[in-house]
Amino acid sequence: MKAQGYIEEMSDEGLGVLKAEKPIYVPYTVVGDFVKVYKTRRRFGRIIAERFEVVEFSLLRQTPRCKHFGKCGGCLWQHIKYKEQLKLKQENFKEITGITADVKGSPKLFGFRNLSNFIVTTHGIGFKEYAKPLSIVDVEECPVFSSKTWEYLRTLKEFMREEKLKAWDLKRKRGDVHYLSVREGKFTGEVMINLIAHIKLNEKLAEAFRDYFPFADSLYWSFKADERDDPRGESHLIAGEPYIRERIGNIAYLIHPNSFFQANSYALPLLLKAVEKFTGGEKALDLYSGVGTFGIWLAKRGFKVEGVEINPSAVDIANKNAQLNSVDAVFRIGKAEETPIGDYDTVVVDPPRKGLKETAEHLAKSSIENIIYVSCNPKAFKLDYEKHLKKAYQIEDAVLIDMFPHTPHVEAVINLKVKR
Ligand SMILES: C[S@@+](CC[C@H](N)C(=O)[O-])C[C@H]1O[C@@H](n2cnc3c(N)ncnc32)[C@H](O)[C@@H]1O
Repeated sequence: MKAQGYIEEMSDEGLGVLKAEKPIYVPYTVVGDFVKVYKTRRRFGRIIAERFEVVEFSLLRQTPRCKHFGKCGGCLWQHIKYKEQLKLKQENFKEITGITADVKGSPKLFGFRNLSNFIVTTHGIGFKEYAKPLSIVDVEECPVFSSKTWEYLRTLKEFMREEKLKAWDLKRKRGDVHYLSVREGKFTGEVMINLIAHIKLNEKLAEAFRDYFPFADSLYWSFKADERDDPRGESHLIAGEPYIRERIGNIAYLIHPNSFFQANSYALPLLLKAVEKFTGGEKALDLYSGVGTFGIWLAKRGFKVEGVEINPSAVDIANKNAQLNSVDAVFRIGKAEETPIGDYDTVVVDPPRKGLKETAEHLAKSSIENIIYVSCNPKAFKLDYEKHLKKAYQIEDAVLIDMFPHTPHVEAVINLKVKR
């Protein structure tokens, strides 16, 4: 045996930490578990437990719902009681940023995800194992996504068998089909199926594809020219509508394969209301606006909104969303870091995981009264704030919204006010 003892704390990435000679990071455990570690391996300079046993169970535990829990890399925390998950997220956020924030839980703990990307490989269809990008968990269910998971995957397998399509070989980097991406409008019942494949579709294949997935409101075939393991390709509409819709409160949002949409439809109203609560004045700039998720919501509440986003396809959808919801909002293509910060009362920023980078300095030089920083990465926020924003802004308030139950992640909405 390598080491044994109690898990005393959780790492930022959500692993239990066993304090041995050097800390050992043990996945799928929690504070209060007593573990025996038999085999470890190094990953990015850390020691990760590979073979281990929990011999005494923590009181913070619950029975995980999913049969793939403990192997699948999708959920790391299904074994932790939800109240405790929220507490851990709050503590972790405070430890990284120094901010004490209230946390609001997701109204639904299963079936809340509106998107799932299943990797299609010679070793199975599903998700990567935790920290093992070449091992695939062949899934039969995904309770955080949809009760129809099995149906989607069975249909795909039948279609591939019938059409003699090969799954992607992760080692040799070849094959026909690489990903199945499924999106569900939770409040509209609409379904989008997008197959990401390395072969171009011919008429015979298109006909079979339509026949196998008649239930899709929107059916796409995306041609993937590169070998990267991501669910991206050049999308072609094969049947149905180019978009599916999601309804959040009194707003309809269009969803398309090439653009980001917040993945938890049930917690999204909480996120939108948190942003709305911190929005002051009359005129708002929605930076990193995506399909206009925040901008459209604010415009519906009477704010005059402009949005800037780098992805042209997302901008097109954002403007369609504005039209669909009859609101006063205009979105344009641009880089956040180059956007002139005009006479807005509030600027909402929702950058990707890497954070604001140069945009932080750009904002620090503006004289905007009110900034709302929406962050899925507290370390990136901390860096942006300490390095740049702090020169001109102070933290006024913050709230955490749990968009990602059963994972260590949380979305933070932080209100910054200009220093006087
Ligand atoms: C986390 S998503 C948020 C989207 C949107 N606020 C929402 O809630 O749906 C981040 C967005 O930033 C965009 N983006 C990335 N880099 C950018 C940049 N330099 N300037 C403007 N937008 C950028 C991405 O295309 C993506 O749509």
